[in-house]
Amino acid sequence: MASANVVNTIAKKRDGGVLTAAEIGAFVQGATDGSWADYQLTAMLMAIYLRGLDMAETCELTLAMLRSGTTLDLSSIPRRKVDKHSTGGVGDKISLHLAPMVAACGVVVPMISGRGLGHTGGTLDKLESIPGFNVVMPLERFRAQLKGTGVGIIGQTADLAPADGKLYALRDVSATVACIPLICASILSKKLAEGIDALVLDVKFGEGAFMPDLAKARELARLMVSVSNAAGVTTRALLTNMDQPTGRTVGNALELGESIECLQGRGPADTMELTLALGEQMLVLAGRSPSAPEARAELLRAVNNGTAWEKFLGMVRAQGGSADHVLHPERLPQAAVQTVLKAQQGGFLTAVHARRIAEVAHGLGAGRTRSGEAINPAVGVSHLVKVGERVEAGGELCRVHAATSGTAGAANQQLNTAFEIGPNPVPALPVVVEVIS
Ligand code: URA
Repeated sequence: MASANVVNTIAKKRDGGVLTAAEIGAFVQGATDGSWADYQLTAMLMAIYLRGLDMAETCELTLAMLRSGTTLDLSSIPRRKVDKHSTGGVGDKISLHLAPMVAACGVVVPMISGRGLGHTGGTLDKLESIPGFNVVMPLERFRAQLKGTGVGIIGQTADLAPADGKLYALRDVSATVACIPLICASILSKKLAEGIDALVLDVKFGEGAFMPDLAKARELARLMVSVSNAAGVTTRALLTNMDQPTGRTVGNALELGESIECLQGRGPADTMELTLALGEQMLVLAGRSPSAPEARAELLRAVNNGTAWEKFLGMVRAQGGSADHVLHPERLPQAAVQTVLKAQQGGFLTAVHARRIAEVAHGLGAGRTRSGEAINPAVGVSHLVKVGERVEAGGELCRVHAATSGTAGAANQQLNTAFEIGPNPVPALPVVVEVIS
């Protein structure tokens, strides 16, 4: 596109115009081949942030970003392929055990995941707590693994939706991340590149979520469901609560340990409820189960008869991980210092602040501020109490896992404001508040 046309296209969106498919295509092409300068791409991103995109423009943007790279062709695998995507939360380890549980029910799960950035954790970092576990592989090898074991979890490759890699990096440094159509196109361009038949979205709201406000999360969920369905992938979204962490652990190896408990039928109630709610939608959309209750029964059967655990072990072995470490989780990375945070008063937990707990785990070394930074797989928080539970004065609120007694002490101090205790019983927080199809 000639430079004058680039400027005209940016001006059109700046002034609130509706972009044509050709103009959106040129913008995405410009991001992919470098023919638009970074300042022009960023100006367009800000124009989109301020003026928005309508449904047709969002579909065009998503499809153009998808077409900027290759897609995973899974047509040689005769079974249905389904994935789940979460918008990210605190203690969200669901993918680690959900993928093998669903695969154990006869559906292929080709999961392409991300790393933790900011306050939320990443599936790949959690899996890398297993010595040897490899999340980087060519798509050809990933396809072979899916043919064999029916499940795999790897990282984004440079050839899947490369326009998103470029645009996301610019959004990150130009205050244009929190824009619903841009988030929709960014997430879906990568998910649609997986060659899936169906997709279940876990869209989180609440203080530990990327999108704290329920109304905004609903808007994002509705848009993603519409765009993904229009692109030919049957999609549903669950709106789920992220005011308190999911489950009882935050931190990479600690969360992996909780996922192992889920696969062995010993997982915390809220983690299991979210897993089953997402899994039942995956099986129904895949046409594997006629109804949600039947899907739930099938998932529980896979846990109880050990097939979900076998699938997980198969995935770990296929990706080079040490099966010995998941068979003996006490051999997973352990922090040098463990301390117990005690309640100063008795009563009922009225709030367990997800954001604050995430910040503490991050400060302990569980997360990164810049991409590429090293993390400590062993550190974090475990044995977390949940909203609605009763605690005695001096009872345990959580355990801190730290590299040194200094960082453990600082974490204990910061965690004091993460828990609120009142005299009266309060109900447990709901896990799923709405299903959008
Ligand atoms: N995750 C993504 O992949 N893209 C976004 O824009 C936001 C969250």
